[in-house]
Amino acid sequence: MKLFNYLLKDVRQKIEYYSRFSPSPMSIKQFLDFGRENACEKTSYMFLRKELAVRLANTMREVTLLPANLQSQPSVKLVESWYSHSFEELLEYETRSPEDPHTFNDFLEILIKIRNRHNDVVPTMAQGVIEYKEKFGFDPFISSNVQYFLDRFYTNRISFRMLINQHTLLFGDAACLAQPKHIGSIDPACNVAEVVTDAYETAKMLCEQYYMTAPELKIGEFNSKAPKKPIQVVYVPSHLFHMLFELFKNSMRATVELYENSSEGLPPVKAMVTLGKEDLSVKISDKGGGVPLRKIDRLFNYMYSTAPTPRLDPSQTTVPLAGFGYGLPISRLYARYFQGDLNLYSIEGFGTDAVIHLKALSSESFERLPVFNKSAWRHYQTGPEADDWSNPSSDPRDASTYNANR
Ligand SMILES: Nc1ncnc2c1ncn2[C@@H]1O[C@H](COP(=O)(O)OP(=O)(O)OP(=O)(O)O)[C@@H](O)[C@H]1O
Ligand SMILES: [Mg+2]
Repeated sequence: MKLFNYLLKDVRQKIEYYSRFSPSPMSIKQFLDFGRENACEKTSYMFLRKELAVRLANTMREVTLLPANLQSQPSVKLVESWYSHSFEELLEYETRSPEDPHTFNDFLEILIKIRNRHNDVVPTMAQGVIEYKEKFGFDPFISSNVQYFLDRFYTNRISFRMLINQHTLLFGDAACLAQPKHIGSIDPACNVAEVVTDAYETAKMLCEQYYMTAPELKIGEFNSKAPKKPIQVVYVPSHLFHMLFELFKNSMRATVELYENSSEGLPPVKAMVTLGKEDLSVKISDKGGGVPLRKIDRLFNYMYSTAPTPRLDPSQTTVPLAGFGYGLPISRLYARYFQGDLNLYSIEGFGTDAVIHLKALSSESFERLPVFNKSAWRHYQTGPEADDWSNPSSDPRDASTYNANR
């Protein structure tokens, strides 16, 4: 027991130590250049053994700032234990020499093990939020903290997986089987319209399974830099696919449900891929009836979204088109991760335009990473400000008795 406590204290000190470093953001260009120039496994090992520990420690310190009632939910505890376990495993490499003939192979195996351990972090945290809500209800202060935390926590996870994937794809056994033109998970000439079509086809298959029908796709391109040339970008195609797949699922569901009892055919979903000097944008437009303005912010809110959750039912063979309600918030994190964004412009009664913006240049696509510091800490102490705009539902205030200095 004494030894255990000693070790625990040691790990806590290490978390504290590594969390004092800020993560080092990489650009897509840097990832690419490193992978192209006879990628050196030793350099990658030396960088990752510290950088992964730093990124883990930063996020683990932030978990401790969550409200105690949320931290104590079993699912949140479970996720925390995965992080501690992975952190301890990484510490074993702190002083391990890269010259030891087994180091690289062991490190590769550990990275894969860590990646697998963290596979279910998102649904498990979502479960934690549900557990909290069931016991304590909805509270705007907690919701604003949860929103701030989960955006940062999931971004950290995206970045962590990006680093692990680059290393395992470049140096692992499967390296030669991977896409030959890709550098790790990056496609140096990613044809955006092709990814749009792939994501559409996958969503269409799901939609047809579920509703027996699906809207058509109409796709257009506007290349302002090289007119009529296909639009390409240096990007992680799996990230782009993830965002587009989520947007297509939403557009298809809205369209099919609006036209369910109509004799008219389904209006197509349109995709427009555009390249400017700075931005590469993809707009997905549907005529699915849209969302009222009042509700738009909520669509990105984790605490609102997780309301009635479809418990995963093993007997169900088709996957529903809507699940945890995390499609939009997580997609926006993918877009923001490399300095892009994802916005929804909805016209209630008509339809929705969802726009993904990416940086056109890989040298500008730097990772956007959360840092654990004083200003992050301050976020958790202050709740949403009291409203300083009029509220239509409150009674008129008697200005004659109001004292501005009170
Ligand atoms: N194109 C759209 N048209 C109309 N409503 C939309 C559209 N996109 C999103 N919504 C609304 O926003 C909600 C949230 O979308 P989101 O993709 O985040 O979650 P979900 O689709 O409910 O579940 P999940 O994507 O996790 O399976 C949807 O349930 C839907 O009500
Ligand atoms: Mg969705």
